[in-house]
Amino acid sequence: FSLKKFFSFHVLVLALNGKIIEVGEKILASNGKEVDFASALESCEEAGGTLATPTNEEENKAILGIVKQYNRYAYLGIKESETSGQFTYMNGMPLNYTNWHPREPNGKGTEKCVEMYTDGRWNDKRCNLYRLMICEF
Ligand SMILES: *[C@@H]1O[C@H](CO)[C@@H](O)[C@H](O)[C@H]1NC(C)=O
Repeated sequence: FSLKKFFSFHVLVLALNGKIIEVGEKILASNGKEVDFASALESCEEAGGTLATPTNEEENKAILGIVKQYNRYAYLGIKESETSGQFTYMNGMPLNYTNWHPREPNGKGTEKCVEMYTDGRWNDKRCNLYRLMICEF
């Protein structure tokens, strides 16, 4: 942890008093709130992190653990690029791990965000729905 991240993290924990899981070098935290994609991303960034982004099976399982605890679909830190059907991390880098539900993504450019189902599979979804907010640090 950097000092800044450390304090931001504690502010988040105190303010949100939610669930926290450690996976590899990442810490995942959720307050159990359901918000739209932009609000979720903004809250995570304000706390010094970003939206939970699974880059391997282990991280996907850890995020799924939180999804299951709340039994709510969650937005992930993944977005569709200008090119329809092409999904990237928030920094624009291509995905090196995916866990799409069979026949997903199928939004053909109309579903720019990605949610995790309660079985850990991913679905492309519109960004203005209310989904569980999970941050990573
Ligand atoms: C993808 O890259 C990230 C960052 O380098 C790494 O942590 C992760 O394990 C990689 N995933 C796979 C499936 O190789």
